[in-house]
Amino acid sequence: MESACPIGVFDSGYGGLTVLQSIVRRLPRYDFMYLGDNARAPYGNRSYQTVYQYTRECVQWFFSRGCPLVILACNTASAKALRTIQQHDLAESKSPNRVLGVIRPTTEIAGRLSRSGNVGILATQGTVNSASYPIEIQKFFPGLKVFQQACPLLVPLIENNEHQGPGADYFIKKYSDALLSQSAQIDTVLLGCTHYPLIMDKLRAYFPPSIRLVPQGDIVAESLADYLIRHPEMEIRCSKNGKSSFFTTDSPEDFDRHAGIFYEMGIRSEEVFL
Ligand code: DGL
Repeated sequence: MESACPIGVFDSGYGGLTVLQSIVRRLPRYDFMYLGDNARAPYGNRSYQTVYQYTRECVQWFFSRGCPLVILACNTASAKALRTIQQHDLAESKSPNRVLGVIRPTTEIAGRLSRSGNVGILATQGTVNSASYPIEIQKFFPGLKVFQQACPLLVPLIENNEHQGPGADYFIKKYSDALLSQSAQIDTVLLGCTHYPLIMDKLRAYFPPSIRLVPQGDIVAESLADYLIRHPEMEIRCSKNGKSSFFTTDSPEDFDRHAGIFYEMGIRSEEVFL
């Protein structure tokens, strides 16, 4: 039998680390391999074809390193590339490997989070345009009202380490106001981009305290734990030494310095050429 390997966790840049952090806390025995495609981030405004092509290259890289399971810890990639990878690439090649996203687990529980039945979503332009959240949520919670707001400048600000500056406040307020203006009934806001937990304190300042802001990390971690229980044939292929390794398509020095600000453990990344 082939040897067990780490679970891959992918994002266009730093945002997926917010998901990895939750996953490592929930599943500390497992090994993880994180790849940030920082050289080509952000993905948020790119076309379907481009997001699919970039994501596919990264998924293939994980597979070439032996990862049996890859989590797309990126809503944009989950919205624009996951279905094609699952239904076309994996199905056609009859690969035993699996790729999972972050939108499905979030939409599966979205209706349980809101009392008023009105949920807001903050996400990239690509995720909003794909309508993945409203479409998926309707399958699980047909009565739930979903309001979306695209925040095209937030990921670029975070990727460029400008998210703590006053310039970020202008856009965070603008996007928060735009979402709230869609309905006074919204009581829950899903952070539909894995970068946004990095600006949680600022988001909190622009939403009334009565509104619950929900990051995805813990939701995705719980869903992965459940998946591994339900799929012992995959679970056995995942190595368990409690180790994480980090890779970036851009400068490792930049990645380590920047990522270290918001990831609990120190990071020493390696550069990857796709
Ligand atoms: N973290 C990605 C997401 O969840 C950001 C996408 C981007 O690169 O714009 O959507």
